[in-house]
Amino acid sequence: MTEPRKFPHHLVREIFEQPDALRRTIEPRVSLTEGRVHLDNIRISRDELRSLRRINIVASGTSRHAGMTGQYMMQQLAAVPVDVDYASEFEYRNPMIGHGELSVFITQSGETADTTAAQREARQKGSRTLAITNVEGSTVAREADGFIYTDAGPEISIASTKAFTAQMACLFLFALYLGEIKQNVSQQLAQSYIAELLALPEKTETILSASDQVEQLAELYYRVDDFMFLGRAIHYPIAMDGALKLKEVSYIHAEGYPTGEAKHGPNALIDFRLPLVMIATCDRNDAGSVLRYEKNVSNMQGFKKQGGTVIALATEGDAVIPELADYTIFIPQAPELLSPILEIVPLQLFAYYVAAKRGLDVDRPRNLVKAVTLE
Ligand code: BG6
Repeated sequence: MTEPRKFPHHLVREIFEQPDALRRTIEPRVSLTEGRVHLDNIRISRDELRSLRRINIVASGTSRHAGMTGQYMMQQLAAVPVDVDYASEFEYRNPMIGHGELSVFITQSGETADTTAAQREARQKGSRTLAITNVEGSTVAREADGFIYTDAGPEISIASTKAFTAQMACLFLFALYLGEIKQNVSQQLAQSYIAELLALPEKTETILSASDQVEQLAELYYRVDDFMFLGRAIHYPIAMDGALKLKEVSYIHAEGYPTGEAKHGPNALIDFRLPLVMIATCDRNDAGSVLRYEKNVSNMQGFKKQGGTVIALATEGDAVIPELADYTIFIPQAPELLSPILEIVPLQLFAYYVAAKRGLDVDRPRNLVKAVTLE
């Protein structure tokens, strides 16, 4: 029995715990031979789920970024319209929600006041509610019609990492579950996706085994004062969370932006002083992903012409991006809808190593708390 590895901080330990957290969250809920997802605590009938008019996802911080990836997963696999809201903004937009709709509340702690308040408002308006949370018996879980627990284990560090990847896995499981109920996903497609889900923990371990490359990158950049993270489509929420992780733990100003939006303003900021982290992975089996990749390559060429510095995330085997970018971090091949779960891992490591090199309290960043239980 090998001795468990020792880590200097909760944050980096929790980043390295992600393969096991994903195994615990995924494996008990899938049957590869049946091509089925089993979710025991949804407690909403298949007929009601089949006739859902819309899904509203409501969350805060990193959990909302998970919700943003869930929007792509559910719209593609379950062919249902999905909206995503900040929990803190939900009440102000007088949400026009009600019967025939499902509101999904994603919260690691299950106690975030903005999120519990939004859940109560959604219930009052007649919406069904589903909680995705890491804490059994938490307020959001107790007050929801149904729930799906992320099985990430206690998350101590204020910045959320293993709960985030587990949340995205749960959102994908639910999207597949809904897709099967709505007969939008064939058994064969479900089996193929389940095989890919089961392969995620090992692919995450592959990324973690190259953590020293990310640490070397952090050594080059930990004194920089501004970063921009860019991602397109389902990768945009990962750019957002990569930026949030860096902000939270290193106090460096960082923005997450849709890659295609850079030309509408942010381009004016881009020169050698503003490193760009660009998510430029490609699922060669997905025509849409290939088209978006080609746009990313063209954008990257433009940023380099402007004198920008590019740190790229690319898919293993890519020979184009490393020729263009200043630094390339490789991500194992995965389907477009699952690659966000892998892409965030090097960005979590980058934020951790930068903050540690700046001598900061990576587990207890100033002014932040693990769960904001007051609105
Ligand atoms: C913040 C945490 O206080 O709340 C973030 O620092 C987290 O890490 C956010 O994403 C939302 O918390 P929860 O528990 O609702 O997911």
